[in-house]
Amino acid sequence: MHNIIDLRSDTVTKPTEEMRICMAQADVGDDIYGEDPTINHLQEYIADIFQKEAALFVPTGVMSNQIALAIHTKKGDEIIVESQSHLFHYETSAPSIISGVQMYCVPSQYGEIPLESISEAIRPPDYYFPTTSLVCLEQTHNRHGGTVLSLEYLQSVSEMLKEKEIKFHCDGARIWNACAETGISPHEYARNFDTVSVCLSKGLGSPAGSVLLGNKKHIELARKWRKILGGGMRQSGILAAGGLYALQHHRKLLNNDHHNARLFAEMIANSGLCTIANSNQKVDTNIVIIECLQGIKPLDFIDECKKRHLIISMGRSNCVRAVFHFQVSTDQTIQAAQIAVEALQVLAQ
Ligand SMILES: Cc1ncc(COP(=O)(O)O)c(C=O)c1O
Repeated sequence: MHNIIDLRSDTVTKPTEEMRICMAQADVGDDIYGEDPTINHLQEYIADIFQKEAALFVPTGVMSNQIALAIHTKKGDEIIVESQSHLFHYETSAPSIISGVQMYCVPSQYGEIPLESISEAIRPPDYYFPTTSLVCLEQTHNRHGGTVLSLEYLQSVSEMLKEKEIKFHCDGARIWNACAETGISPHEYARNFDTVSVCLSKGLGSPAGSVLLGNKKHIELARKWRKILGGGMRQSGILAAGGLYALQHHRKLLNNDHHNARLFAEMIANSGLCTIANSNQKVDTNIVIIECLQGIKPLDFIDECKKRHLIISMGRSNCVRAVFHFQVSTDQTIQAAQIAVEALQVLAQ
């Protein structure tokens, strides 16, 4: 039996034995009545980390983002999103279905939409234009390759939007990685946004769950929207216990993932048969985007790796993606890089 190294995503981790024990022993109650002590504890714990007034546990990152859109917009509004955003590419057009809003996609180099471009995209108040009610940015940015948006940039966007009375939402599915990499605390990022959505099921390694953060009024409304979307759960403290365990034990491991991602990128780039295609030309966090050279087809590369028990997947625009997480060790990273180089060499012949 060969050990498979799975680098498709940081969502493929499985709960550890210790996490499972914690989940099994969780004190639970009916969360629809607000009576699940573990859910309440997790919500307070995360609200404290981000220094936001309130937090709500929801099943997924998509639901968390969509609830944020629902509470900040009204039907017929327009929201500004980055062209490569998860909201635009991977949420099955939910903003149009759930909130009845259209997305105005504005391109950027690696996730930071230039201020002038945001300003130009905001609609003037003529009656025939939709109303721009919300801007969303992603931290870290998935499709650009886990890129980190700078605090200074976020501060300037936030100031501009406050002046214009436009709300600001952060899809912070991987904001934990940004914090680990920069040493900037979650609340410093969060204070620039009206709402922040964070995932527990990406690099932190909890089996499920995301949390939406905002002020009391946002979260009161969010609770209603969670119910509308069928995301109200009962003894969900079992899941929250996994999230709490992940925060307390796995958050500190994120820097290893970044180290491994950079090691992998360096080793495969040295082959001369591929280049690293992260949008800012470097590996900021745990995602590596690979562009094959010498006519090697990405799907053939994926297949050759798979034959050698390494799983990687397609990323943006004809590139391949490898994502690092705490269940891939540095030894496995080196092994994965050797397999990838061997696969490229076979295909280059
Ligand atoms: C940036 C970003 N936002 C949101 C999500 C959605 O999370 P979920 O899969 O929990 O719905 C993902 C998932 O990969 C993501 O990468």
